[in-house]
Amino acid sequence: MAKKIVVIPGDGIGKEITDSAVEVLKKTAEKFSLKLEYEYKDAGGTAYDKFGVPLPDDTLEACKAADGVLFGAVGGDKWDNVEPGLRPEKAILGLRKGLGLYANLRPVKVADSLVEYSPLKPDRIKGCDIVIVRELVGGIYFGDKCESELYNGAERAWDLENYSVPEVQRIARLAFETAKLRRGKVTSVDKANVLATSRLWRRTVAEVAKDYPDVELNNLYVDNTAMQLAVRPTQFDVILTGNLFGDILSDEAAVLGGSIGMMPSASIGELTSLYEPIHGSAPDIAGQGIANPVGTILSAAMLLRYSLKEEKAARAVEEACDKALASGWRTADLWHEGFKKADTATMTQAVIDCL
Ligand code: NAI
Ligand code: MG
Repeated sequence: MAKKIVVIPGDGIGKEITDSAVEVLKKTAEKFSLKLEYEYKDAGGTAYDKFGVPLPDDTLEACKAADGVLFGAVGGDKWDNVEPGLRPEKAILGLRKGLGLYANLRPVKVADSLVEYSPLKPDRIKGCDIVIVRELVGGIYFGDKCESELYNGAERAWDLENYSVPEVQRIARLAFETAKLRRGKVTSVDKANVLATSRLWRRTVAEVAKDYPDVELNNLYVDNTAMQLAVRPTQFDVILTGNLFGDILSDEAAVLGGSIGMMPSASIGELTSLYEPIHGSAPDIAGQGIANPVGTILSAAMLLRYSLKEEKAARAVEEACDKALASGWRTADLWHEGFKKADTATMTQAVIDCL
């Protein structure tokens, strides 16, 4: 039976980059004899303009019934004055909640041909290949909070961090499973010297680790991790962490690769998982056909890997991206003297030619 992929282009460059990724998926399906079907749905500002809501029920229902969701990006100045509850970005929160997207996976892999774009020295970044596994629906972002109260005569606010054992077990298992497909190393990041939630986190991760004797587990404090990412990022394979630390570390790690246009992500769900580049709708370059499609193409590769369990096809797509870049093609965000100029269509074709 054919596997169903819901494609949500969204706003801005969303259509351009999802078109590219679908072209690459079609070619990959041909090569690996996969049966894939595509269903297009609206979300974000585009959906607001058509239906008055950023996430129509019909879109969410289609996602729930799909084998995987490929998402472009949402948002843009056009909807700046829309009331807060109906803003395009609400579509992402609605999908996270509706699909139970409990984990965010962000790979940071720097191809040899791109080490020169990294803010780090080439010898530090060469060979960097990390996946950050971030818990997405718990921790301090979702704990009780108080915007303002009087305490000892002064105004204060607070946010409560809590994690339960099952929440930590679920994300830890995903990190160990991810490491099994890779180099077999998990670094769990916390602040166990100060936080009770981190001590429960560390204990629970150690328990889960017993089920994965082939995977090596290390623990690291978050402040040291932030430093290590800049000093020796090649020491990491899978980084496992909570919602708040993961938010910060994944943005730090994303810049190691040089361009935001290169970076894919997966949000793993209880029902369906969703794949999207980490960048937004880039209104400044939308409609010009010059956006870098690689982050979205690599997101489609993650869909093949995690939702369709087609590891070989996923690797083939990743290697085709590497080859296209190694052969000198560069979109505007990465171009400099001596390289071949590519627009979105040329870059997409270069990847397809390398498949
Ligand atoms: P952005 O990521 O859209 O753009 C930041 C800069 O990076 C811009 O100069 C843009 O041209 C460039 N850029 C981004 N993707 C690129 C690509 N594929 N190729 C070449 N250059 C690229 O972030 P910004 O400007 O802060 O946000 C724009 C809109 O996107 C906002 O409405 C924001 O809320 C939304 N957004 C949506 C996200 C999502 O849908 N998941 C994530 C982040 C932002
Ligand atoms: Mg962030």
